[in-house]
Amino acid sequence: FGGPVFDFSRSGPEPQSVSCRPLVYRVVIYHFLFNIYYFAFFTDGTTVLGIAAQFFVAGYETVSTTLSFGLYELALNQEIQRKLKDELRNALKEDGELDYGTVHKIPYLDQVVKETLRKYPILPYLDRHCTKEYRIPDSDLVLYPGSTVYIPMFGLHYDEKYFPNPNGFIPERFSTENKDNFPATAYLPFGLGPRICIGERFALTSTKLAIAKLLLEYDIEPCEETPIPVEFKASGITLVPTKKLMLKFKNSHN
Ligand code: HEM
Repeated sequence: FGGPVFDFSRSGPEPQSVSCRPLVYRVVIYHFLFNIYYFAFFTDGTTVLGIAAQFFVAGYETVSTTLSFGLYELALNQEIQRKLKDELRNALKEDGELDYGTVHKIPYLDQVVKETLRKYPILPYLDRHCTKEYRIPDSDLVLYPGSTVYIPMFGLHYDEKYFPNPNGFIPERFSTENKDNFPATAYLPFGLGPRICIGERFALTSTKLAIAKLLLEYDIEPCEETPIPVEFKASGITLVPTKKLMLKFKNSHN
């Protein structure tokens, strides 16, 4: 088991938007090392390795891909990028530094990340294994023990009934006034129930922190190689673009 784990971590896919990766690497690796240290006291070596593998698989590519899609949308939507920069600068002026508390209290940053995860749910479907016979209310459809049920998260996130103009990037869908316009079960980027993603808080913190740090330093724009619109690979478990999301980073202090 150890072989494949560490081969996997060495031979990861090519970076999609180069400049945002080092920060994410650092956050994910600190988190990963903390977990190994913590679990090593309570479990045997095999379990430690299993947990380490799970954190790499579930926690690494998910955050960096979300960050890439978020920066891609901010590059294509300059007005949204400007508004977010203003909010970040105001928060920085008020708090003096960008820390955990600051990134979580900027409403527009939260809306931008939530809209990124709506358009680009990294795991586009959820699956569940049926253990008890169950009739779907008001229908003849019965689920039998042993069946697998797939929940099409991508389809729900692009359903016009819940998200009008689903191809548009509209962070305001998640504002306090609008967030009740769709049922909570139509938006599931981290899943739901007892098997919900255990890394949600960590994923949101690292994505928000990385976007904030980058926007405070750079103006991000599309370049000639930027794929518009983005297309997704048809195979694979996670949502991956067919072409690299190349973007231009210009130092905003010059
Ligand atoms: C933007 C980033 C992330 C997204 C979109 C995401 C999404 C998801 C989703 C959809 C599931 C399945 C939930 C379900 O079936 O109901 C899941 C499970 C899981 N995630 Fe994440 N995840 C992210 C980041 C992370 C991070 C950073 C970690 C750990 C550091 C992590 C650890 C896990 C684990 C361990 C599970 C399995 C939980 C279980 O089966 O009980 N994820 N994630």
